[in-house]
Amino acid sequence: MTKMNNQNTKSWQARISEATDAIAQEFVESISYDWRLYRQDIAGSIAHAAMLAKVGLITETDRQAIEKGLRDIEAEIDRDGPKWSGFKPELEDIHMCVESELTNRIGEPGRKLHTGRSRNDQVATDLALWIRDAATKQLPAQLVDLCKAFASIAERSADVVMPSFTHLQRAQPISAAAEALAWLQMFDRDRERLSCAGRGYQTGLPQSPLGSGAIAGSSLPIDPAFTASIFGQMVAPQSSIERTASRDQACDFVFACAMIAQHLSRWAEQWIIYMSTEFGFITIADRYTTSSSMMPQKRNPDMLELIRGRCGNVYGDLFGLMTILKGLPIGYNRDLQEDKRIVFRAHDTISQCLIMAAAIVNSANYDAARIEPTLERGFLDATSLAEYLVTKGIPFRTAHHIVGTLVARCEKENKHALSQLGVEAFNEVIATKSDLRVDAAIFDALGAKNVVQRYQSAGAAGGRPLEEQLKEWKKRLGV
Ligand code: ARG
Repeated sequence: MTKMNNQNTKSWQARISEATDAIAQEFVESISYDWRLYRQDIAGSIAHAAMLAKVGLITETDRQAIEKGLRDIEAEIDRDGPKWSGFKPELEDIHMCVESELTNRIGEPGRKLHTGRSRNDQVATDLALWIRDAATKQLPAQLVDLCKAFASIAERSADVVMPSFTHLQRAQPISAAAEALAWLQMFDRDRERLSCAGRGYQTGLPQSPLGSGAIAGSSLPIDPAFTASIFGQMVAPQSSIERTASRDQACDFVFACAMIAQHLSRWAEQWIIYMSTEFGFITIADRYTTSSSMMPQKRNPDMLELIRGRCGNVYGDLFGLMTILKGLPIGYNRDLQEDKRIVFRAHDTISQCLIMAAAIVNSANYDAARIEPTLERGFLDATSLAEYLVTKGIPFRTAHHIVGTLVARCEKENKHALSQLGVEAFNEVIATKSDLRVDAAIFDALGAKNVVQRYQSAGAAGGRPLEEQLKEWKKRLGV
């Protein structure tokens, strides 16, 4: 029988002549944050033990003791969280804390668990499994909640017509629902992007790192394909060196988070603008606003501003991770330990922002009464008028010129809308370019509300195409 380690002695202490310096100890530890990998670490160890038993490196009795011990530990951590008594900074990380506690409890079989593996393939495996869960379960569920919130505001705003903006200048009239569905579309694509990141962004199945050992694999007859099959949707490592050195999936994941952050930030900015007195297009519930300690009249969109601002943190996370990886020689390097801080932080930021965003959208309404009077400004129906002339056989470039001239004429005559011109005025300008003469039917193509009903191209911001979009989203989201 081998003598058991004292519980606080490191498994590798034999090689090092003195205890780790106290400052170094605090500096090197990662248990304060990588404890969050405990479920994945334990699942990895249970799979590894099953594999060791299968190939005859441990007995079935050993395997059972290991599994039982690990499940007990998992239940305790489920209960105690980061306060679990087995988390000891002197044991550095989740892998050593769990293994050391297991060995304290079950003795010799615990000492066999690390056969044919290293913390290097262990940590890569834990992180791969953690990201897979976050990217295909937790975050997608939050994205779906946000998408449902947009579908629902789209539905209750289907009759609200509003201006759209390019260059933040009035463009064409749209249904407010169409704008809500545009955001929905972005967040739905984020969900798919995340799921690709979670699955390792590749055509084949992702390769489980477990079985890669420290770098070169093992001379023992281990079966990494078997552990991969236990994880499901994974295959054996193709290169033990690459599997322990790569953090590609972490980069893909943080990039997907950065994209979500970007979309959230753009949406938040749009609504902050809409909430201003100048616009007044959107109202959100008071419970998502704050006031000012000095200006009693204030009603500030602080939650939206924080969502907009936190995007910067996630971009920082992405750059942080990419920079940590820059220049790293192939094989494991301790720099890689920093990846987890970043992955967790990017995840947490996104998760909190998504929950906040869904709550805000659910509380919001487009303010039809404020929007409606503004529709008369900005010649929103100009493009529609040009398209109407196209249906009468005028080339688009000519029609564009005619409408441009009509708009200029309105401005000169102090008219704020094309519909204020008479049929004679239309015909007078049209006559400079064409033999066409129009009648009162031309007014069907004018006015924001009419225009929105005339859209017929796929994906258009009103009319039948919008009804179809909304129907499709409701079906897909089950709302
Ligand atoms: N805590 C380490 C990390 O997160 C685990 C791997 C340590 N490996 C080593 N050879 N020191 O990367």
